[in-house]
Amino acid sequence: MAEIHLSHLTKQFPGGLVAVNDFELVIPDGSFVALLGPSGCGKSTTMNMISGLEKPTSGEIYFDKQPITKLPPGARTVGFVFQNYAIFTHMSVAENISFGLRVSKPRPSGAEIERRVGDIADVLGLRGMLDRNASRLSVNDMQKVALGRSMVVNPAIFLLDEPFSNLDAAFRAYMRAELKRIQHEVGQTMVYVTHDQVEAMSMADHIAVMDAGRLQQYGTPDELYNAPANRFVAGFVGSTQMNFLPATLVVGEQGAGNGRSLTIGIRPENVLLVPPDAAGATLAGKVNLIEPLGAKDVIHLDVAGHDVRVIGVPGQRPRVGDNVGLVFDPDRQLLFDNETDLAVEA
Ligand SMILES: Nc1ncnc2c1ncn2[C@@H]1O[C@H](COP(=O)(O)OP(=O)(O)OP(=O)(O)O)[C@@H](O)[C@H]1O
Ligand SMILES: [Mg+2]
Repeated sequence: MAEIHLSHLTKQFPGGLVAVNDFELVIPDGSFVALLGPSGCGKSTTMNMISGLEKPTSGEIYFDKQPITKLPPGARTVGFVFQNYAIFTHMSVAENISFGLRVSKPRPSGAEIERRVGDIADVLGLRGMLDRNASRLSVNDMQKVALGRSMVVNPAIFLLDEPFSNLDAAFRAYMRAELKRIQHEVGQTMVYVTHDQVEAMSMADHIAVMDAGRLQQYGTPDELYNAPANRFVAGFVGSTQMNFLPATLVVGEQGAGNGRSLTIGIRPENVLLVPPDAAGATLAGKVNLIEPLGAKDVIHLDVAGHDVRVIGVPGQRPRVGDNVGLVFDPDRQLLFDNETDLAVEA
């Protein structure tokens, strides 16, 4: 097991692009941390530097306070699973999973290898397939084999770079839950890269949100959701995106703006729809579009030219074209400074 400390980690590629910029992060021993951000923000580059596949331009990486930046990948006791599962298609499932043990020095005994492969196969539900040729597996099972290959050598640090993005949705949800269970059971330090905030929120103890090579916020899923540090995090985290409105619409009345240009952020579930003439309605809008999602509706309103999303109850669905009033819960509103994009106290 190991704590990972990324200190001022920077990677500039030839040609000038700074893919990772002064990245500072401490990943506690035994925790499950997600690196979350949009495509191209530097997630894989960060992972490749942790594993040793990529050399930082500057900065240092520590495992358990020991600098390892100059160590080659093989000396880092890191397990790595990529988006494109790398398995040997000419080998059986058992041979694939046992590969790391068979080449390790000292090599465990045959009985020991068999026991450890069996344990991993049980965890991953591959027990009945151990003798099967890996090329004849489904994509889902191939990714399980790739996981098993990394798990079997029991690395202190387990790095997963979008490992489930090629899997179908139902199996992805299943593997998410499985991986979280396995990590809690084994207690390895796990770093998981994803651009999917649902994936990060559902699995990780802590999430590091990245944008354009820079760390935006590091916190628990609840902290990111309820107290985003800036407008980027506020907009990136949350299944139905947060609404952003010019603050003068509401805040001007409370005097909190003081002439500063602000944006108000309010999550769709914190807006209540009321009849247009109801007392207490802060804003008026018109229903533009309704997305029925089964358990809930996402209702799109036109509010003074802004698209405002509200979570609706399917039994009380308005009609497209209806005029409605909006009530905001003042305790759930967030404010962002338009100059810095940082969250400010209301
Ligand atoms: N070898 C390289 N040479 C030059 N530029 C690179 C190289 N590898 C990555 N980049 C650039 O660095 C930036 C970060 O890339 P990276 O692969 O780390 O992003 P990512 O967050 O993993 O994205 P994705 O979600 O698409 O996998 C991108 O702009 C990418 O084009
Ligand atoms: Mg990537």
